[in-house]
Amino acid sequence: MGMNSLFARKPIAAHEESANGLKRVLGAGDLIMLAIGAVIGAGIFSSIGTAAAGEVRATGEVIRYGAGPALVWSFILLGFVCGLAALCYAELASMIPQAGSAYAYSYATLGEFVAWIIGWDLILEYAVGNVAVAVAWGGYFVSLMSGFGVTFPPWLTHGYRAVQLSADPAVSGLMQSAPHIGGMPILLNVPAFAIVALITWLLMLGVKESARANNIMVVIKLLVLGLFVVVGSMHINTANYHPFAPNGWRGIHQGAAIVFFAYIGFDAISTAAEETKNPQRNLPIGILGGLAICTFIYVIVGFVATGLVPYEQLRASDPLAKALDVAGLQTASWIVSFGAVVSLSAVLLVFQYGQPRIFYAMARDGLLPQWAAKIHPKTHIPHITTLLTGLVVAVGALVADENEIYDLTNIGTLSAFAIVCIGVLVLRYKDPDRPRPFRVPFVWPVTLVGAGACLYTMKGLPVTAWERFGWWLLIGLVLYFAYGYRNSLLRRASTDASSPH
Ligand code: ALA
Repeated sequence: MGMNSLFARKPIAAHEESANGLKRVLGAGDLIMLAIGAVIGAGIFSSIGTAAAGEVRATGEVIRYGAGPALVWSFILLGFVCGLAALCYAELASMIPQAGSAYAYSYATLGEFVAWIIGWDLILEYAVGNVAVAVAWGGYFVSLMSGFGVTFPPWLTHGYRAVQLSADPAVSGLMQSAPHIGGMPILLNVPAFAIVALITWLLMLGVKESARANNIMVVIKLLVLGLFVVVGSMHINTANYHPFAPNGWRGIHQGAAIVFFAYIGFDAISTAAEETKNPQRNLPIGILGGLAICTFIYVIVGFVATGLVPYEQLRASDPLAKALDVAGLQTASWIVSFGAVVSLSAVLLVFQYGQPRIFYAMARDGLLPQWAAKIHPKTHIPHITTLLTGLVVAVGALVADENEIYDLTNIGTLSAFAIVCIGVLVLRYKDPDRPRPFRVPFVWPVTLVGAGACLYTMKGLPVTAWERFGWWLLIGLVLYFAYGYRNSLLRRASTDASSPH
């Protein structure tokens, strides 16, 4: 078996056969709502704080520079980067409408090895990303509850790693003040653990987010962010905009690299391609329209947040609520916390739902063990992977530091986006005649600039994120050669066909 078999491509026809004839019911408006449902979450409600204020260790070491009020530029630039990637997603999604998203596209375009890498990266986007969303959920939940006068012991609302890395003496002091067992401080983010457990339980029942529930949650998100903007804009102090870009381009770039998390999710709607009416028209409108609306919202929220308080004060796990609080707007702060809790629950649900289905697609192709492709006879869900994902994400959320996780998720997702951009170009040459319900315009510049812009955004992440990503890829490689390489159904079929009888 030669090197070529590493790059065996799954024929697109095989993808089509495994599609199961879903009904085309979704229009462009539904897709836009789905996109907003998946996208608006921890990024705007939480990572915006670190993006604006930067990150400094207790030792004084600067981990990243913040954009300051120039955060609006980070948002605009990211809208452009994601727009290019979104065009590429739209072409592949309309050509290869299949569960598994970027994993399925790359299997058809760049071959099994790259598909495995993408599938492995998507774990960073979905499961690992949800650890950060759960931690952000915990931050807002605690802030919401304090509005009711309910407070929790801080050692039960802060994970070990978050305390270890915090430069805030009130948080880092928990290392000493928390109860100890065998010399080890007990520092657990119980709310973050509990929400993942609850969502996993809902998913295990076979409950999946319906378009209607999603629409209600989207309306709540938009109303709450609208409230933030309206109330916040009446209390802007223009002095807070000076200096506008305290760390220059470096701050805008490094701020963009972390707040990229806010954009993740528009790619998830590409999986609805099979259920979209007139995908040629509606898919690009849904993906790009959703992205444009979110970019617009982010720019305005970023502008108001940095005008409301000096940007350094946004360094918190619930920056939007805190900004209102600092400005003396307690009721609005409470409502925003409530909106964040709802929004983040929706994001958790979408990704906690998506991850097991990616595992399912990979197991069906033989790249993961067959038990991962098992479907429960009653609930018709991939129950083993749903439970496993829930367990791993919940335990991660118990101890994690949010910013570390944003970095890892962003680097994994950006690299998957870059590969998708290149995949579009490759497929134009390898398979030029296949019908493309949607075609990327100006394919050369869009795909190459798109991939380059993703790589450049990745460059804004701290060195530790690159090191961890390197380790992640290494583990992925080992697993692939230890398991997927030998068990891939596609490669087994081609070996059987070519072996002498
Ligand atoms: N974009 C999603 C969020 O910000 C993942 O929570």
